[in-house]
Amino acid sequence: SFFFRERVKIIQILILFLCVVWEKFSSQSNFDRKMYHYGTFPEGFSWGISSSAYQIEGGWNADGKGPSIWDTFTQTTDSIPDSANGNVACDSYNRLNEDLYMLRALRVKSYRFSLSWSRIFPDGTRKSLNQKGVDYYNRLIDGLIAYNIEPMVTLYHWDLPEALQKVSGWENAAMIDIFNDYCDFCFATFGDRVKFWITINQPQTIAWSGYGLGNMPPNVVDPGYRPYIVAHNLIKAHAKAYHTYDDKYRQVQGGLISIALNADWFEPADVNVVREVVTADRAMQFQLGWFAHPIFKNGDYPDALKWQVGNKSEIQGLPQSRLPSFTEEEKNFIKGTADVFCVNHYTTRVVSYLTAELQPHSYEWDRDLRETDEPDSPTTAIPNQKAVAWGLRRLLNWIKEEYGDPEIYITENGAAVEWDDFERVMFYKAYIDEALKAYDLDGVRLQGYTATAFMDSFEWLHGYKFLFGLHHVDFTNPDRPRTPKYSAHYYYNIIKDNGFPLPDDDKMLYGHFREDFMWRTMLTSCLTVLVWFKSVTNTSSIHTHPYFVFKFHCSLFHTSNCL
Ligand code: NOJ
Repeated sequence: SFFFRERVKIIQILILFLCVVWEKFSSQSNFDRKMYHYGTFPEGFSWGISSSAYQIEGGWNADGKGPSIWDTFTQTTDSIPDSANGNVACDSYNRLNEDLYMLRALRVKSYRFSLSWSRIFPDGTRKSLNQKGVDYYNRLIDGLIAYNIEPMVTLYHWDLPEALQKVSGWENAAMIDIFNDYCDFCFATFGDRVKFWITINQPQTIAWSGYGLGNMPPNVVDPGYRPYIVAHNLIKAHAKAYHTYDDKYRQVQGGLISIALNADWFEPADVNVVREVVTADRAMQFQLGWFAHPIFKNGDYPDALKWQVGNKSEIQGLPQSRLPSFTEEEKNFIKGTADVFCVNHYTTRVVSYLTAELQPHSYEWDRDLRETDEPDSPTTAIPNQKAVAWGLRRLLNWIKEEYGDPEIYITENGAAVEWDDFERVMFYKAYIDEALKAYDLDGVRLQGYTATAFMDSFEWLHGYKFLFGLHHVDFTNPDRPRTPKYSAHYYYNIIKDNGFPLPDDDKMLYGHFREDFMWRTMLTSCLTVLVWFKSVTNTSSIHTHPYFVFKFHCSLFHTSNCL
C-alpha cells in the first residue's frame, strides 16, 4: 500500500541517517566507553549552575506575589514526601546576597535561574504588575553582572500563575498571546542586562507529566490527547516569544534566545538489529524531536510522530490523528526559532521494540517500545535515573547530526545521590569528561555546561527527599544556612582548569621518552624500558610499582578514585 511504501522509505532514510551516530559507537566496547580523556574546553566556555524560582525562592505570597499552580498543588496534595512544599524552600527571596556570594565563590561564568511569572504579574497579565517582584529580579541581575556572572534566564519553569490555570492554562490557545506579553515585558525590563533567554523549561515534561500522567500540576490525566494539544500551544508560544525578541529587541540588546529541551539518550537493546535502532531513534523523536524537530528543522513534527500517532488513531477508529497539525504558515513561523540548542540531560534508557496496546490511547504507547534501565551503570537516588555518562556523548553527537551541527549548551546535568556526595563528584567527573570527548574528539560545537543544582532545593514530586545540590541547605534551620559540598569544590576546580588538563605528574607516563632513548627490538627493548623506568622511579619492578599501578588505573577509567 501507499502507507507501507512511505514507511519503508522513511525507515530507509532514517537508517542512512542513524548510521552516522550508531555506527560510530557500535564498535565501542564497554571498556572503551569508560576510558578517561584528558583535555580542555574552548576558551570562553560557559560554565554555569542552575536553579529555578519555585525550587529555591520561597516567599510564596511575599510582597504581592500571586499563587502559581505549584503553590496550589503542594498546599493541597498529600502525594509529596513529608507533605513538602516551596513556601519557604531555600528562602532565596530573602537571601539574595548569600546566593550571590556562593556563586561568586564558585567562580561560575553563568547562573541559570528562572523568573516567577506570578511574582511579576500576580494574575499572569500585565495589568497586575508587581513592582516588588521586578525589583527582586533587578537586584539579582545587577548582583550577577557586578560579579561578572552571565544571567541565563528561563522565563517559564513550570510555575504557571494559578489565575491562568483557571482559564484552562496551556490547553487554551489564548495562552500564546498571554505568554508573549509576559515575555515582551521581561525583554523590555531586563534585556539591557540579560543576554541569554530560555523561553520554556522542558516542555515535554509539562505536556506529559502535567497533562498525560497528571502527576504534576495541573494534574490532568489524559495520556492520549491533551499532551499533544498542550505541546502544540507551547511550541507556538515559544515561537511567538522568539519573534518578539527577534523583531523588537535583538538589534538593540544583542542577546540570544532558545528553549531548554529535556533529552534522555535511548540506546537500542541490540545495536546490530535494524528494528531496534529504528526504535531507539523513534524514542528520541518522541521525546526530544517532538519539540526540536519543529523548532530546529522544518516547523513540523518528526515523521516518526506523525506516522505513529496517525496510524494508531486510524486503527483506534478516530476521525483524525490525535496529533494536531501545523498550517504551512505556522510551520514557517516556528522553523528556526532558536539561536542555540539547549539540552537538559540526566540519564540513558535502553529501549526495545514492542507492539503496544491500542487502549488506553496514550503518547507512551504511541511509541511502540519498552524502556529498561541500562544494566552496567551506577544507580542514583532516583529510580530510572542511572548514571550512564557515555550516553551524553552519544546524545550530543545525535543532536549534531540530526539538527545540522548547532551550537549546544547543556543547560542541566546532575544527580541526586542517597548519602554520599562523593558519588556526585564521580557523576560530574564522568559526565563532563564525556562532554569533553564530544567537543574534543567528535567536533560537537559545545559552548556551555550547567551543573544542576546550585543548592539543595524543592525537588518537585520528591519534595526534599532527593537532592541535587552542590551546596547543602539545612532546611530544619529557619536561617537556611548553606554549606558547599565536596562536589562544589570539585566543580570549582574543573572550572578553574577549564576541563581536565593532563596533570604534570602524569605527563611522564603520557609523554615521550628522552631524545637519546634507544629503541631496540624484543627482549633488549623491554630491558631498556625497565632500565629507564628504574632510573626515574628507583625501582625495578614496573608491574608492581605502586605509582605505576595507581596511575594506570586512575587515568584510564571514569570509575577511578583519581580526582
Ligand atoms: C529537570 C528540571 O528542569 C529541574 O527543575 C529539576 O531540578 C531537575 N529536572 C532534576 O529533577
